[in-house]
Amino acid sequence: MASDRKVHVFQEVAKHNKNEDCWVVIAGKVYDLTPFMDDHPGGGEVLLAATAKDATNDFEDVGHSDSARDMMEKYYIGEIDPSTIPLNKISIPAQGGQNNPAKTSDFAIKILQFLVPLFILGLAFAVRNYTKKE
Ligand code: HEM
Repeated sequence: MASDRKVHVFQEVAKHNKNEDCWVVIAGKVYDLTPFMDDHPGGGEVLLAATAKDATNDFEDVGHSDSARDMMEKYYIGEIDPSTIPLNKISIPAQGGQNNPAKTSDFAIKILQFLVPLFILGLAFAVRNYTKKE
């Protein structure tokens, strides 16, 4: 429905939160996924859970394929007026891989989980060596 470039108000979009009437907001665009509920490979439940909020992060976190992205056009029904989205419903899209602070701190935690036991082991050996010589 590319001709129907309507600008929707969030409060109206949020009302379409049922199995037989399901709209989601992804990256500023509104999709009517009602006909897709039974066919969505991830299930209808997750689509319902993605209603009444900005579902951009939910959609991106799954790592949808290019063919999934191509399918979206079929369900496109317009844009969302961004100023109508309540602050607590906005999702900030992940910006470019490692520069994303969340991902960077994840990475730091993984490195620490590896280094800390190594450090303790090294310390244990050092203490053992030291006490042997005494
Ligand atoms: C227009 C919107 C959407 C379309 C066209 C779509 C399409 C698809 C397609 C084709 C797949 C199969 C895997 C792939 O090709 O990537 C898939 C999987 C999936 N989708 Fe969506 N999807 C949409 C929205 C969403 C939303 C809003 C969520 C919310 C979290 C979601 C969650 C999932 C999950 C959990 C899977 C299963 C992944 C797996 O089991 O490997 N999808 N979707």
